[in-house]
Amino acid sequence: MADKAARLTLEGKDYDLPVLTPTVGPECIDIRKLYAEADVFTFDPGFTSTASCDSTITYIDGDKGELWYRGYPIEQLAENSHYLEVCYLLVYGELPNKQQMETFENLITRHTMVHEQLHYFFRGFRRDSHPMATMVGVVGAMSAFYHDSTDINDPKQRDIASIRLIAKLPTLAAMAYKYSIGQPFVYPRNDLDYAANFLHMCFSVPAEEYKVDPALARAMDLIFTLHADHEQNASTSTVRLAGSSGANPFACIAAGIACLWGPAHGGANQAALEMLQEIGSVDRIPEYIKRAKDKDDPFRLMGFGHRVYKNFDPRAKVMKQSADEVLALLGIENNETLKVAKELERIALEDEYFVSKKLYPNVDFYSGIILSAMGFPTSMFTPIFALSRTVGWISQWKEMIADPQGKIGRPRQLYVGADRRDYPEVSAR
Ligand code: CMC
Repeated sequence: MADKAARLTLEGKDYDLPVLTPTVGPECIDIRKLYAEADVFTFDPGFTSTASCDSTITYIDGDKGELWYRGYPIEQLAENSHYLEVCYLLVYGELPNKQQMETFENLITRHTMVHEQLHYFFRGFRRDSHPMATMVGVVGAMSAFYHDSTDINDPKQRDIASIRLIAKLPTLAAMAYKYSIGQPFVYPRNDLDYAANFLHMCFSVPAEEYKVDPALARAMDLIFTLHADHEQNASTSTVRLAGSSGANPFACIAAGIACLWGPAHGGANQAALEMLQEIGSVDRIPEYIKRAKDKDDPFRLMGFGHRVYKNFDPRAKVMKQSADEVLALLGIENNETLKVAKELERIALEDEYFVSKKLYPNVDFYSGIILSAMGFPTSMFTPIFALSRTVGWISQWKEMIADPQGKIGRPRQLYVGADRRDYPEVSAR
């Protein structure tokens, strides 16, 4: 309950609005009764000042550049934990003990296969489809295959759907990739861990043995961990909004994938690497910096800036270090793209335009370099983001469904269209 109030004075009348106190972060003015009492809406396109829900999952301090999952700083999780443990933490709220971890790992591993008929579903897509297009379709189609976990009012079914989504998304992402390059689908292997299994499904072929490099599997796992959740971003809000109508979890996650695809969000990892490749050499950087600063040019430095972070994205720091390690491991540390990235970062961090607008490199700036070095084409970057974020989406969706004060999401608007007018006959138009 709020012990503070904010006073709004409107046409001489005062309205006391409760102020809600979070564990940390800015207080929130509770305007839920404002329309009923004062007959006004608030106006906040892009939700720059609006909390759409309360949540216990993830916290970001954008000024300090901090990210916590369930209270644990991302740097500690990146260093000491691994993706499936982070999944458990996000879904169930606490770190697992040894027994709980084993049970969870076993459960995920044993649900990685997808319904065999889904294989035929893939074949309906053009061979050159973007893997994100395929992902939106096949993840949405899961609701047609797993009927026994679509009753959102049954907590057990919600749990089963969560496990299925976390377990099967890597399989579907790898299938989308294999389909796009004309190679046979590779079935998951239960003796491999989550990240190693994903690399196996993407890179092995029936004609020869493929051995997953444990260091690359660890780098893959780190990418999954760093993308696992990010509080109420556009795709997560999309999942919550879709879910608020009572839609099934597979449909909701498909909606999240569609939203993630855009270049301002998850699609930025593909766009960032393509931009670095387009720049091509260090001497061309000034030209691109000039374009990014030009108000009449829509060009933006992809992988820079963030709605919430006005400091270094903490995920980018970890990612940068991992990029150095992976490239050294593969013996390609003199990679031209990495050189361009490092120089671009150096210049942008000193440039008055970027400094004054607090535009720092974000997670997408370095992830593409690692994924490309591992052998992924740029079109797979966003599907990898999608599979990593699925646990965040499903945790947020579960939190929303279990919330007794949950309501269908229904924003209002500031109508600025034509006033009421009468329909004219065609001859009078
Ligand atoms: N390059 C050049 N200028 C930029 C950039 C950029 N990357 N980002 C923001 N600005 C400028 C923008 O022109 C604006 O200038 P002014 O105030 O003079 O009009 C100012 O900075 C504020 O930008 P905004 O668009 O109002 O900020 P936003 O919070 O609405 O947008 C953003 C955040 C991430 C969409 C934006 O920074 C952007 O488009 N970045 C490039 C795309 C990108 O890297 N996205 C990945 C985000 S991290 C992963 C994820 O969450 O999915």
